[in-house]
Amino acid sequence: MKKSKLIGLLSAIAMVPTLAAAQSVDHPTYANEVSRIIQDNCQICHQPGQVGPMSFTNYEEVRPWAPLIRLKVLEREMPPYQYDNDIGVQELKNDWRMSDEDINTIVAWVDAGSPMGNLENLPQEAEFPVIGEWRLADELGLPDHTIKSSPWDVPANGQDMWWEPEVDAGLTESRCIKAVETMPSAAAHGSTHHANSHFVVKDEDGEWVNGDRLSEFAFGKLGEKVPEGACRKVPAGSKVGWSIHYYPDGNAVPDDQVTVGIWYYDEEDDFNEEDTFPQDLRAYNLSGGGDYLIEPHGTLMTQGFHSFDHPVRIDSWQPHLHLRGVAMTMEVFDPATGRKEVLSQASNWNAGWNHSHTYEDGFQPLVPAGATIILTSWFDNTANNPRNPDPDQWVGAGQRTTDEMSHAWIAVTHLDDEGFEEMLAERKESEDRNVAGR
Ligand code: HEC
Repeated sequence: MKKSKLIGLLSAIAMVPTLAAAQSVDHPTYANEVSRIIQDNCQICHQPGQVGPMSFTNYEEVRPWAPLIRLKVLEREMPPYQYDNDIGVQELKNDWRMSDEDINTIVAWVDAGSPMGNLENLPQEAEFPVIGEWRLADELGLPDHTIKSSPWDVPANGQDMWWEPEVDAGLTESRCIKAVETMPSAAAHGSTHHANSHFVVKDEDGEWVNGDRLSEFAFGKLGEKVPEGACRKVPAGSKVGWSIHYYPDGNAVPDDQVTVGIWYYDEEDDFNEEDTFPQDLRAYNLSGGGDYLIEPHGTLMTQGFHSFDHPVRIDSWQPHLHLRGVAMTMEVFDPATGRKEVLSQASNWNAGWNHSHTYEDGFQPLVPAGATIILTSWFDNTANNPRNPDPDQWVGAGQRTTDEMSHAWIAVTHLDDEGFEEMLAERKESEDRNVAGR
């Protein structure tokens, strides 16, 4: 592909969304509408002691930032959630995206000079999850099993830092996960930017190798439940490898530890592993496993193709690129029908945030045996990429933040023909119901 054409494509998919369709309310004020939108979408991070660099808990705090808030919500950079609208599956669990109407309301409010409005209309103060408590506990009680990262001294100030210890998972028998949640310590919750964990298992030769993903955490994230009828395992005798991104926030925290909590399925749940399909959460690469080089001031596209000899259901998708990465898509091509379909796209990639996009139950893509999952990523090493630290460098694949990476974490439930047909039939039925109900 010629360079000019690629850049054309990049700018086409990275375009600022047009919001013409949704109206804003008339004459929005802070007291009436904007305070509520900010409570619902921003305060979890933008309050004292949280990761957001400034606090948005009242008019006096919000007002000076109004022009920048307008820009950030319009460009969909805040709240930080990189998943495209109007393309692919839109039904996601724990979706942080703001509605077009709310965005337009903010814009109209700022354009009108950010009026306060009538103080009497202000909402009650919002309640937020208690720091240091499991967010899934309300529903599931305390986790059955917790695993902690090894201690790390978080300094008060400094650059981003990565801590990647390995610890014993502590299971002698494999078990099926019902839910999993990662929790930073209360003391370091403002500086734990994200924390991912994966299994480290022994291969056939007895060597320790990186295995499936266990959990991931990005600020504000709720735990993850494995869909019913699927079994994702914690393997017996495994270790857990951590990748924790700390970003000092002014508070030193000696011997900090991040904890992952796991809830397991047991007899009380009427759970029988034999009635489930196995699910795994793995990295699928986009470069054929090989190396690639992005030239100075150049761009690059990489692709990965993955298929299974049995039908599968895709339960979640988490793109992973570094600073030159700008976009990723996941498509499926079915040679039996000749059809290709976009499942998901993130065209405003930001390496600072790691989100696993979990499809709503009943909306997880069902992929027939032999169909190809096509992952495509785009890199921009030019000065046009605002996150590019140095366009004069050659950039290759590697672990450092200044190297590139290109893979997607995908949770796949491995079905058989019967299970696949059943799920298709259920979808058809609920679609028919929806049509009939209109
Ligand atoms: C999940 C946490 C989180 C949420 C939710 C969030 N922010 Fe932020 N925000 C941050 C962090 C962290 C930064 C610092 C820059 C960065 O890491 O991207 C930031 C930076 C900003 C900035 C400054 C950007 C700059 O260039 O200096 C603005 C303005 C902002 N946020 C507005 C908002 C608004 C408005 C909302 C809600 C509609 C929101 N944020 C929701 C975490 C969050």
